[in-house]
Amino acid sequence: MLVLGLESSCDDCSAAVIREGADGPRLLAMTRKSQDELHGPFGGVVPELAAREHLLQVRGVIQGALDQAQVSLGALDRIAVTQGPGLVGSLLSTFSAAKAIAWREGLPWVGVHHLLGHLNAARFGAPGLPFPALALLVSGGHTHLYLARDWTHLELLQKTRDDAAGEAFDKTARMLNLGYPGGPVVDTCGRSAPHAAAPFTAPKFRDGKSSWSFSGLKTGMKLRIQGEPGLSQAGAGDPRVQALCRSLQETVASWLMKPIPAFRDETGARSLIISGGVACNSELRARAKAMAERLGLELAIPEPRLCTDNGAMIAAAGALLTPQADPWSCNADANLAL
Ligand code: KG4
Ligand code: ZN
Repeated sequence: MLVLGLESSCDDCSAAVIREGADGPRLLAMTRKSQDELHGPFGGVVPELAAREHLLQVRGVIQGALDQAQVSLGALDRIAVTQGPGLVGSLLSTFSAAKAIAWREGLPWVGVHHLLGHLNAARFGAPGLPFPALALLVSGGHTHLYLARDWTHLELLQKTRDDAAGEAFDKTARMLNLGYPGGPVVDTCGRSAPHAAAPFTAPKFRDGKSSWSFSGLKTGMKLRIQGEPGLSQAGAGDPRVQALCRSLQETVASWLMKPIPAFRDETGARSLIISGGVACNSELRARAKAMAERLGLELAIPEPRLCTDNGAMIAAAGALLTPQADPWSCNADANLAL
């Protein structure tokens, strides 16, 4: 089955062509237009600018993926597109394009939940992964731990009470004037540090429930930066900035890994999947590997270009779903439930 996957829920416009076979999905081609330069001066995504830029990008992104894969629209078996959650103006560009192509070519199409897409990115490297799996989906908008019964059924185990982990990276980079998006630059900067700065204190919850919170981390970072004159302008070459970046990623990675042993015991999970933009982080990848080895879990973390938002993960999820029964009345949904 040849599937065209489209994704534009935030600030990346991406298309991919995959071939789904008995041994899982194979990536034939992928294109992605980033809007980092557009949003960089604002230190975060400006929804209206993102939506307008997607409109300009969508046609070239789709044509580019088809050309690279040497596939014509008529040869496709299905289109998969992100339906939500996300910024509605951004979602609508690829969602409308998918519908239009499906109508013209008489093709089945399916709307995909963005998080199911992130989960299915792991299928490219691990088609035979044993289930149930603990699935940590961690990005600029989500920090959710699920029990995955298979590649399409997720039960929420715990999530953040406030900010997503990715926001801690983006906001730290903004406060230190390191550029946008923050994750990659904080990662590189932190890796240059021989030692981490002092760790950040983990939040405690009065109700005792296992969950995450990253808003206090942001405030803790702000106080530390304000406490050191000149630090916010010192740049990535400054050893104090590097030590702080290393401390941030060690803190985030250790918090993210903390609940894994207890949930493994509770659920009998046999594998660990980590996906979403923050899964690119080198410290998190290293700690996840050590944790999986310690607990005897099979580990699946997609290669970095498949961790951040992309069309291939949407195609891989869409290949497993039933095509839309209401193809023309169904619409994008900024708050789509899983
Ligand atoms: O999945 P994604 O591309 O978009 C959302 O669905 O949000 O994730 C983007 C997030 C951003 O917060 C970005 O800073 C973070 O992923 N990110 C990273 C790294 N690369 C991207 N965070 C930490 N370390 C990285 N290497
Ligand atoms: Zn995402």
